[in-house]
Amino acid sequence: MGHDGQMHAQPGLGADPDTPVKSGQGLDHGAGSSASGNLPSTSFRSRRSALSNAQRQTWERLWPRFGMMALPQSPPAQSVPPGPVDAQAWFGRDAPVVLEIGSGSGTSTLAMAQLEPHINVIAVEIYRRGLAQLLCALEREKVDNIRLIRGNAVTVLEHLIAPGSLHGVRVFFPDPWPKARHHKRRLLQPATFALIADRLRPGGVVHAATDHSGYAEHIADSGDGQPGLVRVDPGTEPLPISVWRPTTKYETKAQHEGSSVTELIWKKRS
Ligand SMILES: C[S@@+](CC[C@H](N)C(=O)[O-])C[C@H]1O[C@@H](n2cnc3c(N)ncnc32)[C@H](O)[C@@H]1O
Repeated sequence: MGHDGQMHAQPGLGADPDTPVKSGQGLDHGAGSSASGNLPSTSFRSRRSALSNAQRQTWERLWPRFGMMALPQSPPAQSVPPGPVDAQAWFGRDAPVVLEIGSGSGTSTLAMAQLEPHINVIAVEIYRRGLAQLLCALEREKVDNIRLIRGNAVTVLEHLIAPGSLHGVRVFFPDPWPKARHHKRRLLQPATFALIADRLRPGGVVHAATDHSGYAEHIADSGDGQPGLVRVDPGTEPLPISVWRPTTKYETKAQHEGSSVTELIWKKRS
């Protein structure tokens, strides 16, 4: 967080893939919650994320166009206006926007964006190699309806997404933090649902999936407790975005280990 307490979206900034996103740059790796209530600031783990040469070259070429670092300014640069991302300018068209939180290597992001080319998808991830894999896939598959933000999704939602602007938020297999003393690190908490509900437009969809039964209950209670959201059965109700998703490697592994997947979907009340 900068001295002015505001996040600034900087397209292309951080083009060096080895630039670490450090504590003190708005991404707090210590335990605790964000300044604005009980929002988790520590839902992600440190991961090694060196890029291959090919990924690095692709990153250097494509990140300035498709990527954005969610970086605070320090010292504050008054010339850079804080505030929401201008999705229409970034994508070059006016279309419904879906935010995917914790996109990992982007398998679901890509497949779902291909299924719905009329949707603008923004993938938010901390993990640099995952974003680089997605960038390579965008180029290989000639997909133009995905943009990427490297940063903490909570700060992105707080500072870069305007209220009532999203048609959907996707969170697939968020880290379950199974130990009780780590539950406060879980991304999907009541405060996160309140923030998501505020950023959705009426009728907008929250779609979460997890293979951890304890976390599934926690997510269900958190989402059901949010007065702005109502649980929906996609089989019986038309939704503004697709809730089909591909089976990822992560999910296949979880299933082999005996876990079943819980799918949870809410709609913002009109
Ligand atoms: C278990 S992985 C799942 C990845 C992917 N959704 C999938 O289904 O394969 C969780 C991902 O969420 C990311 N993540 C966790 N907390 C995050 C946060 N606050 N902001 C952005 N990404 C986050 C992690 O870096 C990790 O890649």
